[in-house]
Amino acid sequence: MSHSAHRRTAAATALALAGLLTAAVPAAAAPGGPPAAAPDSRVSAATSPAALAAPDIPLANVKAHLSELQSIAGANGGNRAHGRPGYKASVDYLKAKLDAAGFTTTVQQFTSSGATGYNLIADWPGGDPNQVLMAGAHLDSVSSGPGMNDNGSGSAGVLETALAVSRAQLQPAKHLRFAWWGAEELGLVGSRYHVSNLSSADRSKISGYLNFDMIGSPNPGYFVYDDDPVIEQTFKDFYAGIGVPTEIETEGDGRSDHASFKNVGIAVGGLFTGASRTKSSAQAQKWGGTAGQAFDRCYHSSCDTTSNINDTALDRNSDAIAHAVWALSAGSTVPPGDVFENTQDVAIPDNGAAVTSPVTVSGRTGNAPATLKVGVDIKHTWRGDLVVDLLAPDGTAYRLKNSSSSDSADNVIATYTVNASSETANGTWQLRVQDVARYDTGYIDSWRLTF
Ligand code: TRP
Ligand code: ZN
Ligand code: CA
Repeated sequence: MSHSAHRRTAAATALALAGLLTAAVPAAAAPGGPPAAAPDSRVSAATSPAALAAPDIPLANVKAHLSELQSIAGANGGNRAHGRPGYKASVDYLKAKLDAAGFTTTVQQFTSSGATGYNLIADWPGGDPNQVLMAGAHLDSVSSGPGMNDNGSGSAGVLETALAVSRAQLQPAKHLRFAWWGAEELGLVGSRYHVSNLSSADRSKISGYLNFDMIGSPNPGYFVYDDDPVIEQTFKDFYAGIGVPTEIETEGDGRSDHASFKNVGIAVGGLFTGASRTKSSAQAQKWGGTAGQAFDRCYHSSCDTTSNINDTALDRNSDAIAHAVWALSAGSTVPPGDVFENTQDVAIPDNGAAVTSPVTVSGRTGNAPATLKVGVDIKHTWRGDLVVDLLAPDGTAYRLKNSSSSDSADNVIATYTVNASSETANGTWQLRVQDVARYDTGYIDSWRLTF
């Protein structure tokens, strides 16, 4: 077949003119301007028919957990700090609820400052073990108080979301794992310990970590972490849906447990309602509350009790946790917008050097799927000449097709399935083609990755 004779759809031509085809970046990633009508199905997973809507998280249930944690502090010297009995009692309270709801719980022990610490991990059975979505909160308080906003609030919001997963008997595409960390107040000790004890294979299976530390501040702001763009957008979508403006979290990046995950390259995000920083008058105008006063005047103090909670903030953020867990665990159900394609022709020299054609993937969370579909369209007059590989962004090669002197048919038009679950999805992938025998020739017509 001659080079010019092959057909091309109008859409493919337009995409070829644009150079490399990649699906549109998330609408809100474009600076300025209101979110567009989301042509990008990757970001709209939460609203696609395939994804079930998250339930409303009952504020009364979240507050009941806080009351229990307050009682636990009261019965144990007024705090729930690392190394003190109120911490372990807090773990026991959550673990019993999660066990009764059908979670597989693990208590991970570590030592810090001469005392035993505990992380509580709760796995929801099912989902793709190669795509794990995690949500977590630190469960320890400082020793000076009961730690209701810091961080009973995040602990209770994550707990009630996990219990809602059980009530719904959710069957997400991804595997769900909830975590409550010990000794955060000593320097992210528990979460660091957890991450450092994961094998690199297990780390690579975590497609995202969502962190909730202080989500019920009494003079609240609505802050979204500025980290993974898809996670960030998922929270912003929730807040846009209820008409509440948000700001980017800036009160100390890396000051909570998401840093332990971010440091090893895991996609992270989260919510925060403010600590000791002062609310500005502009912030008071858009969110209510008191300008010139700290978001949390009881931060790290004995007055961080159940009275130190703004119910509206706690309610909204608990619903936001559920929204994100539902949306981000649903998985991409291969909507048409999830195709990343290159339609530029690349000539393959006869019996010569390998050639490559790039496809850049952006805006994805975590790793590529275990069933990454690689669609290949190579025009050639003797396809047995061709060796074809997929190269991951880090250069790892996946053999799609070997050469074969007896395969005299034309063209390689096929879709290969590659287990790419150990590869980061974002980055530049390459199709590499080499012609290893003389006479017959051809070119890469197009190729695509379907997530
Ligand atoms: N992690 C801090 C604590 O427990 C609170 C905090 C300060 C925070 N700045 C933050 C939490 C930014 C999340 C994001 O004392
Ligand atoms: Zn905290
Ligand atoms: Ca040849």
